[in-house]
Amino acid sequence: MIIISQLNWLYFLMLIMSFFDLISSRHSVRAFKEQKISDNVIEKILTAATRASSAGNLQSYQIFVITKKEDKKRLAVAAHGQNFIENASAVFVFCADPVTSAREYGKRGEDLYCIQDATIACSYAQLAAHSLGFASIWIGSFIEEEVTRVLDLPSGLRAVAMLVVGIPAEKPEITPRRPLSEIIRTL
Ligand SMILES: Cc1cc2nc3c(=O)[nH]c(=O)nc-3n(C[C@H](O)[C@H](O)[C@H](O)COP(=O)(O)O)c2cc1C
Repeated sequence: MIIISQLNWLYFLMLIMSFFDLISSRHSVRAFKEQKISDNVIEKILTAATRASSAGNLQSYQIFVITKKEDKKRLAVAAHGQNFIENASAVFVFCADPVTSAREYGKRGEDLYCIQDATIACSYAQLAAHSLGFASIWIGSFIEEEVTRVLDLPSGLRAVAMLVVGIPAEKPEITPRRPLSEIIRTL
């Protein structure tokens, strides 16, 4: 019995260690090799995204998966010419669904929760991609109307983040962070 519980603790500690290793080793990549990733990998990333918390568990977002070169090119143009996007293996576009959230939560759902739902899901997807050994970059700088056009988004859906995933063609340094003392406030 004691051995089992000690093993559980060991397992738990290993999980904690690997989680912190995972988040501290992730970094953005802005150069990709032109290679495909398998449907299985894409599905794993999507499944991880949907495990994220969402307001009322409504998951008020839709995720578009773009893998065709021509479409990635159009997204790169919509993202002010961030051309590395077209070489990546897949672009996941996270779109908030204000209507779904508003049904339950009114204006707060429409203005805030659906955006949070979509972005938290995107965060999970980014960590999942990293944990599977793929590089990524979060793209927020894009012309929303352009992305709406490229994806032919149904009215109501709002593109809030693109997650570009692929095989890295560069190895940038891990970026520094502001010290906690600059960020944490206590009352
Ligand atoms: C909301 C948001 C928008 C971002 N938009 C862009 C973008 O349009 N282009 C880009 O190259 N990086 C973009 N990034 C990536 C950040 O520049 C990057 O995460 C940050 O510099 C920290 O580096 P790291 O991801 O390597 O830790 C964005 C990140 C976030 C969270």
